[in-house]
Amino acid sequence: MANLEDLIARVSDRRLQAEMASALGILKRRQRFGLVFEEHLPETTVLVGLPIQVGSLVQRRDDLGARTLYRVIDLTADQQACIVPLDSDAAESLPLASLLVVKRFGDPIFPTLTSLGALRRGDTSRPSHAVINGENYHALQLLTFLFAGQVDCIYIDPPYNTGARDWKYNNRYVDDNDTWRHSKWLSFMAKRLQLARRLLRPDGVLIVTIDEHELHHLGMLLEKVFPAHARYMVSIVINPKGRREPNFSRIDEQAFFVVPSTGAEIVQGTTSLQAILPLIDSETDDEEDERPEEDEVPAAEQADDAIDWEYRHARRRGAESSYRHQRPNQFYPIFIDEAPRRVVRVGASIAVNDEPHLGHIDGLRPIWPIDAEGRHRCWRYTPDSMQARIELGNVVLGKYNRTQDSWTVNIRYPRNKSRKLKTVWWDTAHDAGTHGTQLLSKMLGAPGLFPFPKSIYAVRDSLAAVVRNRPRALIVDFFAGSGTTFHATCLLNADDGGQRRSILITNNEVAEAEARLLYEQGHYRGDPAFEAAGIFDRVTRPRCEAVVTGLRADGAPIAGKHIGGRPLHTGFTENVEFFRLDYLEADSVDLGLEFAALLPLLWLGAGAVGEHRLPSDTGGFLVPDDSTFGVLFRESRFRPFRAALDQRPDVTHVWLVTDSEQAFAEMCAALPADKRVAMLYRDYLRHFRARARQTA
Ligand SMILES: C[S@@+](CC[C@H](N)C(=O)[O-])C[C@H]1O[C@@H](n2cnc3c(N)ncnc32)[C@H](O)[C@@H]1O
Repeated sequence: MANLEDLIARVSDRRLQAEMASALGILKRRQRFGLVFEEHLPETTVLVGLPIQVGSLVQRRDDLGARTLYRVIDLTADQQACIVPLDSDAAESLPLASLLVVKRFGDPIFPTLTSLGALRRGDTSRPSHAVINGENYHALQLLTFLFAGQVDCIYIDPPYNTGARDWKYNNRYVDDNDTWRHSKWLSFMAKRLQLARRLLRPDGVLIVTIDEHELHHLGMLLEKVFPAHARYMVSIVINPKGRREPNFSRIDEQAFFVVPSTGAEIVQGTTSLQAILPLIDSETDDEEDERPEEDEVPAAEQADDAIDWEYRHARRRGAESSYRHQRPNQFYPIFIDEAPRRVVRVGASIAVNDEPHLGHIDGLRPIWPIDAEGRHRCWRYTPDSMQARIELGNVVLGKYNRTQDSWTVNIRYPRNKSRKLKTVWWDTAHDAGTHGTQLLSKMLGAPGLFPFPKSIYAVRDSLAAVVRNRPRALIVDFFAGSGTTFHATCLLNADDGGQRRSILITNNEVAEAEARLLYEQGHYRGDPAFEAAGIFDRVTRPRCEAVVTGLRADGAPIAGKHIGGRPLHTGFTENVEFFRLDYLEADSVDLGLEFAALLPLLWLGAGAVGEHRLPSDTGGFLVPDDSTFGVLFRESRFRPFRAALDQRPDVTHVWLVTDSEQAFAEMCAALPADKRVAMLYRDYLRHFRARARQTA
């Protein structure tokens, strides 16, 4: 650049000199020192199943490398499309069924999620994880609509661009001979990281793993995309035996932790808990704002200095899922002996319509989870789980309120004592061979289906560094591959009873050699035989199902144990739903014809609790029993809708279907201030149109 400035200074034509200086200025602003890459390589993606229209960009289904793109100029009644290649005028006619729609990044897209099925092993109030088959750039656009500023941790393990054809850019594998190799990778990553940044909470952290092939480029790209964040690099020993290569034997890879520079300790150190896996499954809901005042903690307990305890209310108190009707099994008495201030035992849960018995039994006083306003709430745990804690001495009496003649019941937990994490992790648990490749083979019942999955404990420990103390964290992985991040999130939850939820995105890529073979046999993209060989269908989904059920796809229990002793066949009491990223037509959204297609988005955005079924008759509005969102379809039904919301303090998200800005504003004003309210379909369409403008 400096050399260019010298040369420009020597240009005698003043006007030309000024124009050149201005062009250089633009270049300097765009390309910071040291990181120069071509940002304008057009990226495209194939959208299987999207209807072809006049004007659509298409490729032939049998063109594996998408070498030629065409524009559709006419459609005929006999299901033929008249197409012209982008680089010539030679029109030809081909059957519609032989073509696939291609979108350029920057073209507006209107994405949604189509459910492919769910597994629900957790109770209905437990949020569901989402595993999405789709192009991550588009899926990230969708997530920015639903979760901007809400994600606690993004963990990604992108293709490392080793030159060994390990990733595709524009449907083509990139190898050593490609002179634009690094430029393409940076362009690919930059687009996605810019979207990812919008998802993070102010204290949210991005973790990106990488190896020597793109380490330095990635570091500079992160500096560019996250200028106000601190970037830490951790070396993780993933292959202690070492890799055979010239000069050195590499045993590690790197993970960048991109952390907001707020001055706060966001990264959490190791704890004694980190190594112990997992304890027991429980239904806890550790809301951080629920700690009792110090004076509610019995003096005897405060004096116990062998263990540093922290105390939380035994009754659930948040707006979400804390009411009796939401967890009827968690409405039961806890019997206490008042004089020695001792918690003795639990009683049985009672039927939903039965009144609690308040009188003493055998000299013991029953305490019910009823709040100061007399509302029936629920305890944090089921009776069995609470009884186990009582027997361990971890359920204790807190403050006695003389005016109300009531007791607070608390649960004590060992305080999370942490020390700082070091920047080199050398732990046999992080070995990607044993705890990645071999574990995956065991879970899928066959070896070699996926190259280089991470060690589940390396992912678990990376996530734990950010979300250990965030039991309701939202975690995103948009290069999910075999689904290790989902498995690691389940482990963290089982370890401490958290309700973290993960959203995973990965495409259904078919390995190059196999794709070629399938094409030779006449099975093209979009054909069931071709798609069945893709990563999502063959690896990600079956692995996530095996994680939850503890069973392989053939029904056999998975052999072996997690580190810490939890058998793999135990599975997890988690809910997970699988989705395909689909695309809608803007006009049909605008006309209100796509509500059923959009419903899973509303459900996911509101916390993914319960189900997302559309009843045949909604009566003008919808407030599903076990979910946390409401939708008003007919303005004339606003009053009963509002009344229904009054009965449901757990509802957090409200969608109002109206064309009138004024009606929307009036209804918003009449709704409780704690609801997130949005206008359908205006806000959805606006979001994706704006995204297209920003990318174009
Ligand atoms: C390195 S792997 C991640 C492995 C993962 N961490 C694990 O432990 O299994 C990267 C994954 O991202 C997927 N991928 C690459 N480009 C993608 C894109 N544009 N959209 C969605 N997924 C993509 C690849 O198919 C691959 O499965």
